[in-house]
Amino acid sequence: MLQEHALLRLWTEYKANVAAASSEKGGIITGTIIGREEQKRCARTALELLTKLENSKFLSVYSDYSSWIRNHQPKASMCLNDDLEYVKQAARRHFEFLHAKRTGAIQGVNWEFEVEPKQQGTRLGLTCRVKLHGEREVTKYNFKSHHHGSHSVSGKPGSGPDVREVLVYKLLELIGAGPEADFALPVTRSDTAYYIVTKWREDFIRLDDLTTPTLQTATVVEIHLLQLLLHLYDLKEDNVGQWGDGKTAVVDFFVNDNAYVPDNILEKFIAKNCPRVLAWVARDDGKEGAYELFERTPPEPRKNIAKSALERWNLCAKLDEALEYLKSVKLDTIPTKTRQKELCTSGLDSTPSSELMSYVSEVKKGVKKLSEELRTREP
Ligand SMILES: Nc1ncnc2c1ncn2[C@@H]1O[C@H](COP(=O)(O)OP(=O)(O)O)[C@@H](O)[C@H]1O
Ligand SMILES: [Mg+2]
Repeated sequence: MLQEHALLRLWTEYKANVAAASSEKGGIITGTIIGREEQKRCARTALELLTKLENSKFLSVYSDYSSWIRNHQPKASMCLNDDLEYVKQAARRHFEFLHAKRTGAIQGVNWEFEVEPKQQGTRLGLTCRVKLHGEREVTKYNFKSHHHGSHSVSGKPGSGPDVREVLVYKLLELIGAGPEADFALPVTRSDTAYYIVTKWREDFIRLDDLTTPTLQTATVVEIHLLQLLLHLYDLKEDNVGQWGDGKTAVVDFFVNDNAYVPDNILEKFIAKNCPRVLAWVARDDGKEGAYELFERTPPEPRKNIAKSALERWNLCAKLDEALEYLKSVKLDTIPTKTRQKELCTSGLDSTPSSELMSYVSEVKKGVKKLSEELRTREP
């Protein structure tokens, strides 16, 4: 057992490493500016020292120190956001927790967990292969940083998650257009790192791998409709497509900052030209892909597809369901500070933030407006 003075020395050392790791332009140790690698080294050391302190009785005796840690540790950990090793640890902890929940044990035994680098896309992340207690098969997952988080290309730590993104992943799952989605916190206590975990769908076919007649008119129209109503971006041809049964699939997106319902929503929906925001391109092999199919689908079939999709999706009710899910089940996984769009007004409060609620009400407004116009403005 470490003596009190040894613990105090550890504490001082911990604080010095936190300070060095927290500086915006590389850390500063005793007046000298240090480089990014050194800054990361200090952040790792701070985490190791923190574990030692937490394993001792030190923090329970000096409770003021716990609040110092809460206030300072997240910033010190930010420089580790792009460190794949910590992404791996977050993934391990996430699945270990799910495994332990099934077995009732804290430490997972008899489970399988393997990771490999993410094969596609630019967001920092991993592919996980996992077999939890009671499962017969290994399941694959995409474990990736949230949209504003670290990119493997830029290597920047990124900013906090947009909780609307979390809500929409759940919503898409609930309407059958998205893979099963879950969310995970980092192990570093950074409040800007956050992970989206989706169950891998082997039957996902990217839009650019689809041509008619396998490519369905409903798919291109429904993706356009989701983009318009949920204010989505990045529905590029590798992020959307069809499941094996031909139904619409969206595996990656982000939510536009300016989410508002356009006055001319019906006109936008039936406009002939493929919206630039979808970024679909004409094919050069003479086959008919999403771009061509979209542009040759006239208003009437588009409207019929929208009517049936809106009925099937029941977006307003599913939005409420997704919101309930966030509030009741996943509140503990949402970091307190989230890029001005917090789920909770305070860390422990379960009241959704006004930003999130105004997004929800804007989506509902759009759904109601379009449904109404589809019903009343018929020829
Ligand atoms: N759950 C999933 N099931 C099947 N394929 C997926 C899944 N998640 C991602 N993919 C595939 O992997 C690619 C990269 O993953 P993505 O989540 O889009 O990463 P990034 O955010 O870096 O673009 C996607 O474009 C898609 O083709
Ligand atoms: Mg992508």
